[in-house]
Amino acid sequence: MSADALPDRRNGDALRAPFAGFGLGLRPAHYPDFLSGHPPVDWLEILSENYMVQGGKPLAVLERIRADHPVAMHGVSLSIGSVTPLDHEYLNQLKALARRIEPMWISDHLCWTGVHGVNLHDLYPLPYTEEALRHVVARIRDVQDFLDTRLVIENVSSYLTYAASEMSEEAFVRAVAEEADCLLLLDVNNVYVSAVNHGYSPTQFIDAMPAGRIQQIHLAGHSDHGGHLIDTHDAPIAEAVFDLYRHACRRFGPASTMIERDDAIPPLAELTDELDRLRRIAAEAYVRSSPEPQPCTT
Ligand SMILES: [Fe+2]
Repeated sequence: MSADALPDRRNGDALRAPFAGFGLGLRPAHYPDFLSGHPPVDWLEILSENYMVQGGKPLAVLERIRADHPVAMHGVSLSIGSVTPLDHEYLNQLKALARRIEPMWISDHLCWTGVHGVNLHDLYPLPYTEEALRHVVARIRDVQDFLDTRLVIENVSSYLTYAASEMSEEAFVRAVAEEADCLLLLDVNNVYVSAVNHGYSPTQFIDAMPAGRIQQIHLAGHSDHGGHLIDTHDAPIAEAVFDLYRHACRRFGPASTMIERDDAIPPLAELTDELDRLRRIAAEAYVRSSPEPQPCTT
């Protein structure tokens, strides 16, 4: 297999890969459902790091499931915002997995996960400064050159802000996408969690995004701790996040959408029911936003 199957980033006329429909994050608890049948799921997102090995059972299972389902690769360890040099061993493994799996696209987060060789195993936000912007744009461009495809970069949820920040998060995310010439994975739940935690408008954040670069949308559940929300991925999607998804659909048109569930994982049917609700919201929103739904341009 070849990484050539990934969208060619030199084709500037079509930034976004074709709409893939409504998917789920592939989790081991649901391997039997996908190996023994054809659940109503259009595509699957895998956690890249779980399969960046030479062999073994998880990779063998993935290859069987991949034969019947389009797959997107989603990573948590690129640490694109860190000041530690890019990890070329990691990038080689990522590229090898892409050659093997032929994903629709490869994504990771707009964050840093460690520094000076220490992995902190969490997704930390960046200060929204010109210096951080130049730094992360250069690194995204380096990774895109190495993988020869546009990266899809996700906004993270956050619980603190930096006194050093010089611009809003939405201005920073938009500038990263346009200056790095990358695509965006808009996590609508992350937008909501951060907006509540920091007191900004989640709809204004979505309105500020460059529509032509929204490759994918994430939905997930969070937990409410009174004064703040935490992005836990252990519960159904909140009503306010369904509403925000409706707003995103009207703004962006058809964008490949999926649900992330990482804890308290329910039977697959519960997630496909939730996915059906997203399908209905999107179908209604696309009709309302345009009689002939087309991906918007910037
Ligand atoms: Fe996400």
